[in-house]
Amino acid sequence: MGSFWVFYDQYMGSKGRSGAEACGEFAASVTLLLHMKVRGKEYRAVWMKGRDVVVINQPLLPHRFELLRLKNHRETARAIKTMIVRGAGTIGATAGYGMAQAYLEGVDLDRAYRTLVETRPTAADLKHALDRVRARATSAKEAVAEAEAIADEYVERAEEIARVGLPLVPSGSRVLTHCNAGWLALVDWGSAPAPIYLAHRKGRKVFVWVDETRPRNQGANLTSWEFLQEGVPHKIIADNAGGLYMRRGEVDLCIVGADRIAANGDVANKIGTYQKAVLARENGIPFYVAAPSSTIDMKCRSGDDIPIEERDEDEVHYISGQTNGKKSGRVRVTPRGAAAGNPAFDVTPAKYITGIITERGIVKPGELRKQFRK
Ligand code: MRU
Repeated sequence: MGSFWVFYDQYMGSKGRSGAEACGEFAASVTLLLHMKVRGKEYRAVWMKGRDVVVINQPLLPHRFELLRLKNHRETARAIKTMIVRGAGTIGATAGYGMAQAYLEGVDLDRAYRTLVETRPTAADLKHALDRVRARATSAKEAVAEAEAIADEYVERAEEIARVGLPLVPSGSRVLTHCNAGWLALVDWGSAPAPIYLAHRKGRKVFVWVDETRPRNQGANLTSWEFLQEGVPHKIIADNAGGLYMRRGEVDLCIVGADRIAANGDVANKIGTYQKAVLARENGIPFYVAAPSSTIDMKCRSGDDIPIEERDEDEVHYISGQTNGKKSGRVRVTPRGAAAGNPAFDVTPAKYITGIITERGIVKPGELRKQFRK
């Protein structure tokens, strides 16, 4: 029992309930049977409690598990922008809740919409969720209900992605994944790891190569942590090691998530995805993208239309972590005075993508227009 659980129990204790009670109540509020777990207890990456949005404080992972209550839509927007919550689907669900908070606060809804929509420009799900709440809710009650429906839908779609992608992961599979597209990133289950989780729960032997994913290390910090909760065998590798393992024949397939998929099948995902797709093609390895259909943006004709978020260069200069003495902090890894570029995403051209795993089935990138006319 580390400080991790002590904190959690203190947090829930202060609300007059044990962690188990809180999770039991939460589990009862959804209809699905299987949920992702932290030390055996069920969680989502985000939910609403009263007027607050409750999130898992992701930058503290893997060393501390801490929940954060966001009191109004501005705090929620800030949490999305600073990546306290991140990952396309979780961003969408959180934004939906943030919009519901704006209704509850009685503030100018157009302004609140703008505050939320400007937080992470690449993720299509952000706008998808905000537009839905805005279009369908005429009262605060309806806004909360719509935001809940959006979050539930992500969970249902993630479960479907798990089922659809399952045949791609037979026993003995060695999968490479990039960034974190797991349950922290899609409310529950995740996109890319969902078929892996299901295969593992079915008792199949699955192994995952986890790209560390510089500069923010979502693979090393979050995907590995998720896999440890589920007991999925994996190894974290430096971003530049994947090519070696592919060439040695130690990768059977790649599955990654997506932040926005253009109508022609080009995919924006975490920076570094493109390199892995090209290497996979070079080595004859299938390269799959998993995403709910809300990530497909038919208004973007190709990847060239997708806005690429440029983040603060300090994310390249500094790395966060914990010392052997368990002191958390960040250290500078670049020379002071050096400049850095920090594009958060890249675009993988459709020609490198074997298939897109959605809740509606596996689609060839060239067939998106036919299958997902909107
Ligand atoms: O910048 P992040 O951490 O939000 O980027 C996350 C990714 O790129 C994920 O692969 C993507 O959002 C899919 S999440 C289901």
